[in-house]
Amino acid sequence: MYEEQAECGLLSKRLKQLAPYLEQYQRFEQPDAMLNTDVWQSALNRPVPLKGIGAEQVLSEMAKHLIPNGSQIAKPGCTSYITTAATDMGSLATLAGIVASPQRVGLTAFNYLEGVALSWLAEMFDLPSGMQGVFSSGGSTANLIGLGAARQSAFERLGMDPANDGVQHACNIYATEQSHHTIHRSASVLGMGRNSVIHIPVDEKMRLCPEALRKQLLEDKKTGAVAVAIVANAGSTNTGSIDPLQEIGEIAREHKIWFHVDGAYGLPGTLDPQLHPLYKGLALADSITVDAHKWLGAPVGIGATFVNDSQALQKTFNQGAADYLETTVVTNQQFENSMDSLGFPYHDLGVELSAPTRGATVWALIREIGVEGMRARICRHNAMARRVAEQVKQQPNLELALEPTLSICCFRYVDKKVEDLNALNKQIHRQLVKNGVNIPSTTMINGKLVIRPCFLGARTDWHHADDLVKEVLEIGDFLTR
Ligand SMILES: Cc1ncc(COP(=O)(O)O)c(C=O)c1O
Repeated sequence: MYEEQAECGLLSKRLKQLAPYLEQYQRFEQPDAMLNTDVWQSALNRPVPLKGIGAEQVLSEMAKHLIPNGSQIAKPGCTSYITTAATDMGSLATLAGIVASPQRVGLTAFNYLEGVALSWLAEMFDLPSGMQGVFSSGGSTANLIGLGAARQSAFERLGMDPANDGVQHACNIYATEQSHHTIHRSASVLGMGRNSVIHIPVDEKMRLCPEALRKQLLEDKKTGAVAVAIVANAGSTNTGSIDPLQEIGEIAREHKIWFHVDGAYGLPGTLDPQLHPLYKGLALADSITVDAHKWLGAPVGIGATFVNDSQALQKTFNQGAADYLETTVVTNQQFENSMDSLGFPYHDLGVELSAPTRGATVWALIREIGVEGMRARICRHNAMARRVAEQVKQQPNLELALEPTLSICCFRYVDKKVEDLNALNKQIHRQLVKNGVNIPSTTMINGKLVIRPCFLGARTDWHHADDLVKEVLEIGDFLTR
């Protein structure tokens, strides 16, 4: 019988055992996991084992059944989600944190990097100075944290404290239909309700119309609802559009409404000199989010929120004293040991107490390739989207739905003989997924179903753009001949 395997000194042996299988996976030669579900599901779905099989056997099952049946998302040609495979450095730094600093609390080198990495992100993305950052699990939580602070701030101005008393008033959050649904979910979780999100119309480039926002704000003044936040996209999920941040920020200032910028995907776009001017209005933001697990190549589970007023975060999310920590931590600043303090109280600025050391991963990613390396990646992906657009314009059977702003390019196959182009493009997309090499998503633009690659993965290179266009044409030609 195998008992708990707690001995130290076996990690390198086990990593060596597993590494070849992970590298094999990264060659992406294995069939899609769905093709042999019978085999791996029956191998994995067993009754809970009363007796363990030991580490060697577990590793062997991982090598045989888990790793070869992993995700398509890691493929460099997979451009459908805005999360990708982590870079090796992202995976290794995360593993190091899990092993050597299993908690965000304490005075460890890992935890020290929490603050360093946040300030590197702020500097790299040219955020207003003095913003307080906090890591969380990703864009969903990062938006929740930003909007939580917005809610606290809006109600405190009216002499109320929603963190303690809840929300009894109708609220309004202004965003566009292009805003990510985590904005609506945040509104719901924060007790304001999904219906508090008022959709402001977009222009032909899918960007919020400032005039429409002004009009809506004036109308809503009569209703007595509390205006909690104006939300802008710095890179929308559907099309990569960037809302006019400067104008929206000025309106927010004028009306004294919190200005939240969702840059989960697109904030790193500011590194592209061609696009940098579009981010000018960030200076007016009260809160800004960005995901390291998107364009920066971190493993999934790392987002960040930056806010101007850290007091609002503290008032919203402060978790209160805990008996079990009273004597564990030293409060008089006379630290003698790394265990004497919880470290910087990030747990009071968000919704997690226990959390991994995400800063060390972000630090490692930036340290490895530097700001210039990140810039090269971002510029390459943006240029790839533009290259797709240029190729599309030269093909009579392709139609560009929208000039790309960031690294998303929306286009579709067209043929005069075909009445239902949405159905045709859906079929093309199905075939792309089945072929399993170039895997974009689709989205809807003004009623048109379009093919939507989002170039973002560190391993996604120029030829993936060319290959996708070629494959769409081949499939479209085949289906319409
Ligand atoms: C603009 C934007 N905001 C928020 C999110 C949610 O992020 P996450 O999936 O990390 O929770 C996404 C996800 O793609 C996004 O694109």
